[in-house]
Amino acid sequence: MCGIVGYIGDKFVDSLLIAGLERLEYRGYDSAGIATLNKGKLRIRKTTGKIQLLKEKLKNSPLGGELGIAHTRWATNGEPTTENAHPLTGCKKSIAVVHNGIIENHIEIQKELIKEGHIFTTDTDTEVIAHLIEKYIDGNLKTAVQKALKRLKGSYALAIVSEKDPDKIVVAKKENSLIIGIGENENFVASDISAISSLTSNIIFLEDGEIGVIEKSKIEIFNGEGKLLNKKIRKLKWQLRRGPRKDGYEHFMLKEIYEQPRIVKSVLKRRVFKNKRGVHFKNIGITPDKLLKVNRLVIQACGTSWHAGWVGKYFLEKYLRLHTEVDFSSEFRYRNPIAGGDTLVMAISQSGETADTLAGIRLAKSKFVQVLSLCNTLESAIDRESDGTVYLYAGPEIGVASTKAYTAELLALFLFTIYWGRIKECISEEEAKNIIEELGKVPYLMKKILDNQKEIIECAEKYYQCSNFLFLGRGFNYPTALEGALKLKEVSYIHAEGYAAGEMKHGPIALIDDNLPVVCIVPKDSVYEKMLNNIREIKARRGKVVAIATEGDEKIKGYVDHVIFIPKIKEEFSPLLTVIPLQLLAYYIAIKRGCNVDQPRNLAKSVTVE
Ligand code: G6P
Repeated sequence: MCGIVGYIGDKFVDSLLIAGLERLEYRGYDSAGIATLNKGKLRIRKTTGKIQLLKEKLKNSPLGGELGIAHTRWATNGEPTTENAHPLTGCKKSIAVVHNGIIENHIEIQKELIKEGHIFTTDTDTEVIAHLIEKYIDGNLKTAVQKALKRLKGSYALAIVSEKDPDKIVVAKKENSLIIGIGENENFVASDISAISSLTSNIIFLEDGEIGVIEKSKIEIFNGEGKLLNKKIRKLKWQLRRGPRKDGYEHFMLKEIYEQPRIVKSVLKRRVFKNKRGVHFKNIGITPDKLLKVNRLVIQACGTSWHAGWVGKYFLEKYLRLHTEVDFSSEFRYRNPIAGGDTLVMAISQSGETADTLAGIRLAKSKFVQVLSLCNTLESAIDRESDGTVYLYAGPEIGVASTKAYTAELLALFLFTIYWGRIKECISEEEAKNIIEELGKVPYLMKKILDNQKEIIECAEKYYQCSNFLFLGRGFNYPTALEGALKLKEVSYIHAEGYAAGEMKHGPIALIDDNLPVVCIVPKDSVYEKMLNNIREIKARRGKVVAIATEGDEKIKGYVDHVIFIPKIKEEFSPLLTVIPLQLLAYYIAIKRGCNVDQPRNLAKSVTVE
């Protein structure tokens, strides 16, 4: 969602803030803005669209100053116009606020402030914060912020500056991440570590209800009652030394699709025993003893990570006979889920910042249920708040549509199942060895798919103008159908539905005509014949079928319009391969339609509002 960055120090504030925003742009990119205090005078520059446009505006007329705050927006309340872009100010234009989150009672506060004479100029919920602070300020920004926060309902990460109390940035948070980076005679503020990790590795994580006062050489953190706290400084376990690069690829999405074989290889190297008879998950925060006691697993996640959870469920049920449920975090968090003493909650998240998933973790913990997360982002909120974390080691994912994180999530689920199965003694050493050997082939097999894209490109050329697509799969590839449809929707804006193939006759079959491409995931597996039946039903209604099938399957050619072959692999690992042609198909279709594949409209990489 939105991203925040702030700086106080001697460096050139405009360029430092812009560099920070560029690292956060994947969080939201409909508008952006920056506010600085230059010799105590507030200056603001905002624009709709990408950070690049803001950069150009600043090039023509820099703001300069001793400190500043900046924001990249993903609109929640109010259209993405320049007026609605943050920073937002009050009537006197002497206070600037950047905000991530949603103020739920803003209408009520706005009415009250209008009666008192305040004039509102935007459609945002955030503007009330600026007016409230303006109402309460008497020379001390921190006290005014404290009073304003008492009035707010909802979620926020805030950074605020004021002419009335210059030389400082005041920050606060509730349910949205806000971190403070400590430098030498300079300090930083950000919603995401990645914005400032190249500048410092000393970090303070603000907790809900706390307020931070950041000066050039002093940082003070207070609790909601104004008591000064002694906060721990954490040393980052990692530092991003350079910004994201496309390394010769036209788009991050394509680069990340191509990265998949390398990631699988390096994760296997990291996790698999040298003798290949087992895997290790050291220091994950949940002990083998605790895992032994689990009889029910609830996976909660959103989007692509939720699809990975479904593959995980099938796999865990097959090898561990473990009762596994998969839930959308946005449903789980409001359903008062049952917490038996033998339940483990597993959160899956690439970003580690998804608001609903985080809320699901907090809910589980409030019921004393242990939470293990699968997460790609070290030190993210989900990593910090879970009892244990299994890192994905996929590297930063920049393309908004998730690709490499998905296969890394699948791999983590497969490997973790082996680990757990060995603990529970339901996977023998021999069986573990066989699984590991099969997984060992994956990098090479993935590469084979990437090396032969002719049919995929031809399908993209043929169908890119269609308005609807259907994706069907069964068993382990039912989630692949969901993921294929999601990818296409996300990057090409074509309406696509993913369905369990057996369910087609209960509705989607009505959509089939000679204009509807149906992508059928039909590898040679235990449900192959069932899939063929579904394909016959589609063809009988003149639907166009694109099959993702196993190399050597000559029979399939007689049934369908196009075949994209994938190499042979054990059924349960096929989702690691079948998804790749679907990622590429979505990518090429989106390119043909002239879409911005890395930053599709209306989406954001980390969804930090519910
Ligand atoms: C957003 C992203 C998706 C992602 C989902 C869950 O919607 O655009 O690509 O799958 O959030 O994100 P997470 O970071 O929790 O995996």
